[in-house]
Formats: sequence, structure tokens, C-alpha cells
Amino acid sequence: MAYSSLCRRLIIACSILLAILVSGVSCVDIFHEWIVSADNTINLVSVSQPVITINGMFPGPLINATTNDVVHVNVFNNLDEPLLITWNGIQQRLNSWQDGVSGTNCPIEAGSNWTYVFQTKDQMGTFTYFPSINFHKVAGGYGPIRVNNRNVILVPFAKPEAEFDLLIGDWFEADYKEIRSLVQESWGIPDVMLMNGKAPYGYSNATDYESFTVTKGKTYRIRVSNVGSVFSFNFRIQNHKMVLVETEGSYTNQIILDSLDVHVGQSYSVLVTANQDEADYYMVASPKLFDTNFSNTPYLVGNGVLHYANSVGTGRAPVPNGPDPFDIEFSINQAKSVRWNLTTGAARPNPQGTFNVSNITLTQSFILHGSKAEINGTLRYVVNNVSYLTLDTALKLADYFRNGSGVYELDAFPVRSVNDAAAYGTSVVTGVHKGWLEIVFNNGHEVMDSWHLDGFGFYVVGFGEGEWTPESRNTYNLYDPVVRSTVQVYPGRWTAVYAFLDNPGMWNLRSQNLQHWYLGQELYVRIHDDDPNPAKERPPPENLLLCGIFDESPSPSGAPAPQPRW
Ligand SMILES: *[C@@H]1O[C@H](CO)[C@@H](O)[C@H](O)[C@H]1NC(C)=O
Ligand SMILES: *[C@@H]1O[C@H](CO)[C@@H](O)[C@H](O)[C@H]1NC(C)=O
Ligand SMILES: *[C@@H]1O[C@H](CO)[C@@H](O)[C@H](O)[C@H]1NC(C)=O
Ligand SMILES: *[C@@H]1O[C@H](CO)[C@@H](O)[C@H](O)[C@H]1NC(C)=O
Ligand SMILES: *[C@@H]1O[C@H](CO)[C@@H](O)[C@H](O)[C@H]1NC(C)=O
Ligand SMILES: *[C@@H]1O[C@H](CO)[C@@H](O)[C@H](O)[C@H]1NC(C)=O
Ligand SMILES: *[C@@H]1O[C@H](CO)[C@@H](O)[C@H](O)[C@H]1NC(C)=O
Ligand SMILES: *[C@@H]1O[C@H](CO)[C@@H](O)[C@H](O)[C@H]1NC(C)=O
Ligand SMILES: *[C@@H]1O[C@H](CO)[C@@H](O)[C@H](O)[C@H]1NC(C)=O
Ligand SMILES: *[C@@H]1O[C@H](CO)[C@@H](O)[C@H](O)[C@H]1NC(C)=O
Repeated sequence: MAYSSLCRRLIIACSILLAILVSGVSCVDIFHEWIVSADNTINLVSVSQPVITINGMFPGPLINATTNDVVHVNVFNNLDEPLLITWNGIQQRLNSWQDGVSGTNCPIEAGSNWTYVFQTKDQMGTFTYFPSINFHKVAGGYGPIRVNNRNVILVPFAKPEAEFDLLIGDWFEADYKEIRSLVQESWGIPDVMLMNGKAPYGYSNATDYESFTVTKGKTYRIRVSNVGSVFSFNFRIQNHKMVLVETEGSYTNQIILDSLDVHVGQSYSVLVTANQDEADYYMVASPKLFDTNFSNTPYLVGNGVLHYANSVGTGRAPVPNGPDPFDIEFSINQAKSVRWNLTTGAARPNPQGTFNVSNITLTQSFILHGSKAEINGTLRYVVNNVSYLTLDTALKLADYFRNGSGVYELDAFPVRSVNDAAAYGTSVVTGVHKGWLEIVFNNGHEVMDSWHLDGFGFYVVGFGEGEWTPESRNTYNLYDPVVRSTVQVYPGRWTAVYAFLDNPGMWNLRSQNLQHWYLGQELYVRIHDDDPNPAKERPPPENLLLCGIFDESPSPSGAPAPQPRW
């Protein structure tokens, strides 16, 4: 059966059930066919290395959707190993089957294809996609997602002249398979900071650098995302102020910035007005908590160009200095100033502040410590001393077909303590459906960390020093915390978030730092709604892939195919 009418079917279902009569409730189906390949001939900077491209492009193509559209992406895996793509920040409402992480989806095997179908339900904003398994993200395969507002929503700023997607990330000049094999040993530091896959301006051997052309007097929306593996960066544009307007699907209180810290996995929109002399100006992204002078890694400072259409010359001053990269207070103060605009509508006309946390009762609290540990002499990353062990069987399948039995042990993971020696575990914890969950992330590393929850936007209520204690709650901002899906955690400090668990499914909670994630800093939150009404959580898609113990290929014992338990 074709999916082509899914959008219309959803509208009809919605109209009947909810009698939505608002004019302009509409959505469209968006179709993409992606060929994902590793191109060994690409020389981005100074050496040829395999780069994961989509339809020959790096970064991959833009997914340009509007709230409630249905996106179909048929992914052909031309790599020589299994692949999954995840949609960072797209909430997959009632539909964790499409989330594209190892716990929800069986991998797309080399040489085969699989079609994701997901709705950008009740969302707007700036997001990214990237490959989620096998350390592929270090080789690219990522790209931008825009979810535009429906026409009926008033956006809290004038329509910009144009929009630019700016994907910035650190990059290793090596074969990703080699990097992956060394991740437990000499992980090292990246070589260069790329802007939309391009080397910094001025890099001696690079032929191409990123450049946006603007017209004097006009205002532009730049959607900046950190698609790197390791470094947070400070982003700034020479001689230009930026107005912060959006982050990962929330409109923020508009604040004027000289520079903006963006952590791994995060996205922001800023407005920039071309109000300077007609010349060329640097767009810079320099790593945080790292001294590129001392380590003599100048190319870790990303550098592109804001080019005025009538620019008469280079006219460039030296690369503008950002704040001291080691000034954590600067970064935290800026983070605390990123607030939710309570009065504006986002995906729906209701003001964002209608759904606020000023008066909620917490149902659950997870106090999580991310750190390193040795398990049997091997370097691993742990959460509460448990290092996530990825199974061949996707957890969501195990949940659906047999209530997890024989695959994972629900709630074995200690959500509030670190009292045991480090060990492996396939951590799946219960999130109470329609409860409020507090999550505290403690960062036991000497480097930045950032954490992401699939399936939700969470309210960022607090940042603090040292170890979190219950008294730390007195410092929370419960008035206008911003809602987003990835939050930074400073070394030796904590960050606290609240999430309203109204989205049943199997949801990944992970470090966005690729090494931390790959070596075990993740878990899954299982949110179950006992109501069997299929209008709640979606059934598996018709093209469901089976793997691990559910693999359909005939087994020697001829075991029967598994049946859903209910
Ligand atoms: C530029 O290319 C030359 C010749 O291939 C090489 O020796 C040199 O190291 C390269 N420089 C940089 C900065 O990559
Ligand atoms: C994205 O979609 C919107 C709404 O359909 C359209 O106005 C805009 O031109 C599109 N942008 C791009 C870059 O395709
Ligand atoms: C693979 O692609 C073909 C079209 O080329 C499509 O008909 C088929 O549904 C895709 N397979 C899956 C599992 O999505
Ligand atoms: C919040 O949104 C409202 C309504 O769109 C807008 O008028 C106001 O300027 C915004 N406030 C801030 C501080 O950005
Ligand atoms: C790196 O060197 C430049 C030029 O000397 C200087 O302006 C900048 O402050 C230095 N950066 C750091 C992090 O020390
Ligand atoms: C937050 O929600 C409560 C209802 O739970 C409401 O009374 C209050 O006005 C809201 N706060 C803001 C700032 O909108
Ligand atoms: C706030 O919470 C209290 C206690 O749960 C409740 O009695 C009160 O009605 C709530 N106020 C609002 C505005 O929701
Ligand atoms: C599924 O497993 C959970 C705990 O793992 C248990 O509480 C629940 O009763 C089980 N449900 C069914 C239908 O077996
Ligand atoms: C966590 O595991 C490490 C390594 O096994 C151990 O040294 C440490 O004591 C453990 N932490 C706690 C609180 O037991
Ligand atoms: C460590 O290795 C031993 C021997 O291979 C094994 O029995 C044990 O389960 C391993 N421990 C962990 C935590 O993996």
C-alpha cells in the first residue's frame, strides 16, 4: 500500500476526531529518495578520505517541511555496512518506530533500502539529521531540517529576506573506520572546523569556503547547528550583531548577541541585518574549552564569509576574537539568558507559555552522572556506572512482541545512584505516561558534554556548580525556561530539565558527544500507555524490519515467527 495519501488521511482523521475547523489546517507529503554512499575521492581539506554523502552531497539535502507535514525518506544504503539515520529533535509523536536509533529500528543493511515516514506534528524550528550507528557521523551523512510555521501562525519577527542553513562541526581528516577502531585509545582531537562541509577561509590548500551573499539593509535568518562530534563552539560574525530568535523548536525571548555558544547537537536561529559597509566579513566558529593557539591548530577555528552583494573589496580585519574559550561563566550566563517567549505561539496559535512548568508536580526524578570507567580493562563511558550495551535486537521490537522479556530488564538501571562498580547494561527505564520527569545531568568529565532526549522538548530549568543536591531546586527558573531537545552540561557541573511524558514510545536519552555516546553514555526511556486504542501509539509500520531474535530468515531450529503479545 502506498503511503502517498498519509497526510490527507491524517487530516481527515483529525478533522473527524477533533473537529478542527481552523482554516489553513493543511499538510503535504514530502518525498525524498536518498542514496547514501561513502565517497573515497573527496578532498575537503588536505587529504582524500571517505566522506558519507547523500545523493553525492555533503552536507546532505535540506528537508524543508511545514508543521504537520508528512516526510517520506527512502534511504538506499550504499555503504558497506549497516546504517540508520536519526532526526535530531523531530519528536516522532506516538511513533518511535521512525526514530532511527539502534533501540527503535533495525539497521538498514548494506545494499538495501528502507523508507522512513514521519510527521512534523505540532513542531516548527531548526533541526538536523545524522547517521546514528557505527560512528558514521564522524564521516558526515548529516544535513539540515527546517520546519516552517503554518500560515495561520504569527511569527514573532518580520519575514527575513532569506534563510541560510549553517551546519558547523569539528572534523577528523582520517578514514572513519580507522577513527572508530581507535576510539577507545588515541581518540585525539579533530583537525579542522567545517562550515557546511567546507574548510575555513584561508586554509592554504582548500579551494572552497562557505560564503553567504547578502544585500545591504536586509535581514537574514541564519540557522546554526553544531553537527560536530566533540567541540562546542562560539559563533560570531565580524562587526555584526545577532538577534537570537529560536532554538530547536521554541521561539526565545529575542536578545542581541555579539557571539553565541552552540554545543554538540544543538541548533539556533539568529537574525542578522546587513547594516555595515559593503564589504566581506568573517563568520567564525571557535572551539570552547580549547586553546587553538597553544595546540597550534588554527584550522579548528571555522571561518566563512558574509559577503555583501556589492562588496568592493576584501576589507577584512583580523578574525574577530570571541570571548575567552575557558570563560565558563560567560557561557553559563548566556545559557541562562536563553528564555522562552511565553506570549508567542509556536507550532500552534496558543501562546507557548500556556504549557508552562510554574506549577507542576514532579512524578519522577532521574539523577544521572556521566563519567568514564574501565570495565574489564576497557575504556567505557557510563551513566550511573552503567555502560549501555547495544543489542542486535531493537528494544522497541522486543517491547512490542514480548514486553521486553528475554531482551532487556526494565528498570534494572539505577536512576538515582552510582553505588555499584561499573558494568555493562542495556538500560531501559520506565517513564510514567503523562507524568512530569525531572532529569539532572551531572558531568563527571573534564570536557563539555551535551545530552539529548528523543521524543520530547524538555524545559531547561537550571545550571549549577558541583554536585546537584535537592536544595539545588531552589535555584531553578520555573518561570520561563526554554524548551529544547539538547542541553549542554559543563565539566564538573550539572544541568536540570523537566519533561512532560505525553508521548508513548521507546525514547533514546544520549550524550551527543560522539565518543561518549558510542562508548556507552545512553539509555532508553520506555513510556507505555495501557490504553490499547490504536489512535494512541502507532502500530509498527508495514515495512518494519526485523533483527536479532526476531530475524525472519529461517533459523536452523525452524522456530515460528514471533507474535505480538497483545
Ligand atoms: C598542502 O598540500 C601540500 C602538497 O600536497 C602538502 O605538502 C601540505 O602539507 C598541504 N598543506 C596543508 C595545510 O594541508
Ligand atoms: C521551504 O518551504 C516553504 C514553504 O513551502 C517555501 O516557502 C520555501 O521557499 C521553501 N524553501 C526552500 C529553500 O525550499
Ligand atoms: C525500497 O525502494 C523501493 C523503490 O525503489 C520502494 O518501493 C520500497 O518500498 C523500498 N523499501 C522499503 C523497505 O522501504
Ligand atoms: C515575544 O513574542 C511576542 C509575540 O509574538 C512579540 O511581540 C515579542 O516581541 C516577543 N518578546 C521578546 C522579548 O522577544
Ligand atoms: C590566539 O592568538 C590570537 C592572536 O595572537 C589572540 O588574539 C587570541 O586571543 C588568542 N586566543 C587565545 C584563546 O588565547
Ligand atoms: C503558567 O500556567 C499557569 C497554569 O498552570 C497559569 O496560571 C500561569 O499564568 C502561567 N504562567 C505564565 C507566565 O503564563
Ligand atoms: C497549582 O497547584 C496547586 C496544587 O497542586 C493547585 O491547587 C492549583 O490549582 C494550581 N494552580 C494553577 C494555576 O494551576
Ligand atoms: C510487562 O513487563 C512489565 C515489567 O517488566 C510488567 O510490569 C507488566 O506486567 C508486563 N506486561 C505484560 C502484559 O506482561
Ligand atoms: C564506578 O565504577 C568504577 C570502576 O569500576 C569504580 O572505581 C567506582 O568506585 C564506581 N563508583 C561507585 C560509586 O561505586
Ligand atoms: C569481564 O570479563 C569476564 C571474563 O571474560 C567476564 O566473565 C565478565 O562478565 C566481564 N565483566 C564485565 C562487566 O563485562
